[in-house]
Amino acid sequence: MTKERVLSGMQSSGRLHLGNLVGALSNWVRLQDTYDCYYFIADWHSLTTGYADPSEIKGSTRDLLINFLAAGLDPEKCTIFIQSKVLQHSELHLLLSMITPLGWLERVPTYKEKQQELKDRDLSTYGFLGYPLLQTADIIIYRAKYVPVGIDQVPHLEISREITRRFNHLYKEIFPEPEALLTEFPKVVGTDGRKMSKSYDNAVYLSDSPEEVEHKIRTMVTDPARVKKTDAGNPELSPVYQLHKVFSSKQEQEQVAIGCRTAGIGCIECKKILIQNVFTVMEPIWEKRNDIIQHPEILQDVVEKGTEKARTVAEETMRLVREAMGLY
Ligand code: TRP
Repeated sequence: MTKERVLSGMQSSGRLHLGNLVGALSNWVRLQDTYDCYYFIADWHSLTTGYADPSEIKGSTRDLLINFLAAGLDPEKCTIFIQSKVLQHSELHLLLSMITPLGWLERVPTYKEKQQELKDRDLSTYGFLGYPLLQTADIIIYRAKYVPVGIDQVPHLEISREITRRFNHLYKEIFPEPEALLTEFPKVVGTDGRKMSKSYDNAVYLSDSPEEVEHKIRTMVTDPARVKKTDAGNPELSPVYQLHKVFSSKQEQEQVAIGCRTAGIGCIECKKILIQNVFTVMEPIWEKRNDIIQHPEILQDVVEKGTEKARTVAEETMRLVREAMGLY
């Protein structure tokens, strides 16, 4: 039986943190056993907002690749590649641009939202407007059925489906309509209690050393009402407890929650338990990261093979597309 195809990508802007691990990457790892998975690094997408300073893209791409492997993506089971190495994506993007009404792109809610959020950058560029179109090309060029993404990407998937329908209707039924594969993820807060994000400077990165991780958790804010150890606290107001919910056993969660309410456990002690559990998740990743960093040829090999395979599939699709659109 042939496995159904899954595709997903991550932008290479900044390092990967625990929120990305729990929210996306661990899910990718799970899916590789059941589906024919294609995972890639969307380095062109990083340019849509970061074109003015591309100095970090290469480094981020490399760090992402290391993390993909360190977190358990297995190149024997899934195809790992870099977007900018498969030029067919750009050809399909161009051809899709012929049939995509501007209004569709302008109406994608993230378009105006992101422009507002990044006011210091000039995002009145075609590339930024065309972000979801490039993303559509990324997906349908592999004729993928499912796209595991976070809820924030649903509007992008919606326009991908519309463009796919339009293509199939105008020319030929080549593409399946891609579907979002939404999974419920535990919310990972950062050291300040807000959502973990590199732009808030509150993230624990997979590339952090054990000392850095320990320091970040040790200095986390807790329930602000708990000044002294003898003050009772409310665990629900403490970001440390929110992280316990993600990384600690049910029993430990109960233990620290009761301890907090009754002033039976100090914040340092509570954090120590969390640090230990975060270490348990990160240790195998650190170990593999070190292996890979010491043997960079592993990385080279994975990317070359993955890219070659992706290219073959993408080129097959493009042959059908060129023919359907009347091109040589
Ligand atoms: N927009 C996605 C993100 O920022 C990255 C991405 C690019 C993507 N192309 C994709 C995700 C195709 C899924 C499928 O996370």
